Amino acid sequence: MQKYICIVLLLLAFPFIFSHAKRTNPDKPCKHFTVYYHTVIFNGTNTANATAAVVREPTKFWNTSFGQMVIFDSPLTKDQSLLSTPIGRAQGLYFYDMKMRVGSWFAYSLLFNSTEHKGIINIMGANLMHEETRDLSIVGGTGDFFMARGIVTLRTEDVDIPRYFRLQMDVKLYECY
Ligand SMILES: *[C@@H]1O[C@H](CO)[C@@H](O)[C@H](O)[C@H]1NC(C)=O
Ligand SMILES: *[C@@H]1O[C@H](CO)[C@@H](O)[C@H](O)[C@H]1NC(C)=O
Ligand SMILES: *[C@@H]1O[C@H](CO)[C@@H](O)[C@H](O)[C@H]1NC(C)=O
Ligand SMILES: *[C@@H]1O[C@H](CO)[C@@H](O)[C@H](O)[C@H]1NC(C)=O
Repeated sequence: MQKYICIVLLLLAFPFIFSHAKRTNPDKPCKHFTVYYHTVIFNGTNTANATAAVVREPTKFWNTSFGQMVIFDSPLTKDQSLLSTPIGRAQGLYFYDMKMRVGSWFAYSLLFNSTEHKGIINIMGANLMHEETRDLSIVGGTGDFFMARGIVTLRTEDVDIPRYFRLQMDVKLYECY
């Protein structure tokens, strides 16, 4: 009888042992690369150069740009120069949603269509702008990034608000198929 109880307990514990063994190591992504995101905000006349537009002005509710929303279709480059040949595009939106300090929330896709990468990575999460680096969630992907999951680390590199800003995006996938 006792033997059976032991076996049953072992079987019950098995899923926990298994999930422990599969724990992901943050230092060991299965795919890792860096791209630079450039946004030039539309100012009413710079149609050819702009890559983003304010679609909703901030509310009067608070002084943290609360409620402002921006939609972008911005180039991704391999190096920090805005004039380098784009290797993909970042398309989506961000809005300011923090009351105590300035901060935003991003939801966007990285679209790649080159010999190196073909596919889409979908990203969302809080952009806590007072932090030097921010981790957003990679929630899925298609093409070369089929079923991708991971983290994209943002670092603001150059800011000339309201004209231009550049982010370094460090893409780390922990599920690759
Ligand atoms: C918009 O930006 C362009 C390029 O930086 C500049 O030449 C132009 O004067 C700006 N227009 C306004 C209305 O600020
Ligand atoms: C607009 O973009 C072109 C390249 O497409 C660049 O040569 C020019 O300097 C840009 N103008 C401004 C005002 O940023
Ligand atoms: C917004 O207002 C609060 C309280 O009035 C003040 O402490 C804070 O410095 C202001 N923030 C900005 C970004 O101006
Ligand atoms: C990807 O690039 C190829 C070759 O330039 C082009 O034919 C195709 O339409 C592009 N696909 C997308 C989704 O942009």
